[in-house]
Amino acid sequence: MKYKKKDHVSSDKKIVIKLTKKYGSGVFANDNIKNGETIHILTGEKMTLGEFVTKVNSGEEYIDDPFQIGRRTYIDLNELSRTFNHSCDPNGGIRNQSELFALRDIKKGEELTYDYSTTVSPTVWSMKCKCGSEKCRKIIRDILSIPKSQIKKYKKVGALQTYMKPILKEIEAGAYKIPRYETLSIERVKDRKKVIRDA
Ligand SMILES: C[S@@+](CC[C@H](N)C(=O)[O-])C[C@H]1O[C@@H](n2cnc3c(N)ncnc32)[C@H](O)[C@@H]1O
Ligand SMILES: [Zn+2]
Repeated sequence: MKYKKKDHVSSDKKIVIKLTKKYGSGVFANDNIKNGETIHILTGEKMTLGEFVTKVNSGEEYIDDPFQIGRRTYIDLNELSRTFNHSCDPNGGIRNQSELFALRDIKKGEELTYDYSTTVSPTVWSMKCKCGSEKCRKIIRDILSIPKSQIKKYKKVGALQTYMKPILKEIEAGAYKIPRYETLSIERVKDRKKVIRDA
């Protein structure tokens, strides 16, 4: 879904949408948040990989926006949920299906981010990164692009989605192959340039 941009406090008083200087709108802490605390459950309508491709091709959806919750299942996030930006050194992580939680104590006013790559199973999708952290990977790609040491940290604090855990095990055992449905779906995205989007 595409949305109009405006600053507003969400119905969840802990967080607020504001314009960033780097990459459009973002979500910010409206109060201090404690390490481990749930920040927000990302929500929206469930859709299949096929529906995702159709929406991208029709221009209804940007390729960077759907949120993966299964090997072939995504969520078409609502406005608030889709406004969280990516950081290569985030203060939030995703656990369970789509629960954003704090990876450290967060002060009121800080932008709330998570590592998009933890939520993307192996694919050809990528996006330029402007997070500006010292650990910035410059191009945001799938789970395979995260350094092993960082994956270890995410695992330790539980910042991995339920569906990604068996995929990671398969990757580590050298048994993971990009499924045929994934490559076929990407081929079905009409404008291949949309797969690599300039931020
Ligand atoms: C899910 S939306 C996040 C909300 C978005 N900032 C907005 O204003 O709608 C993803 C888009 O945000 C931008 N974005 C998010 N994180 C970014 C990052 N680390 N570097 C550059 N652009 C980013 C990109 O334009 C990306 O396509
Ligand atoms: Zn980055």
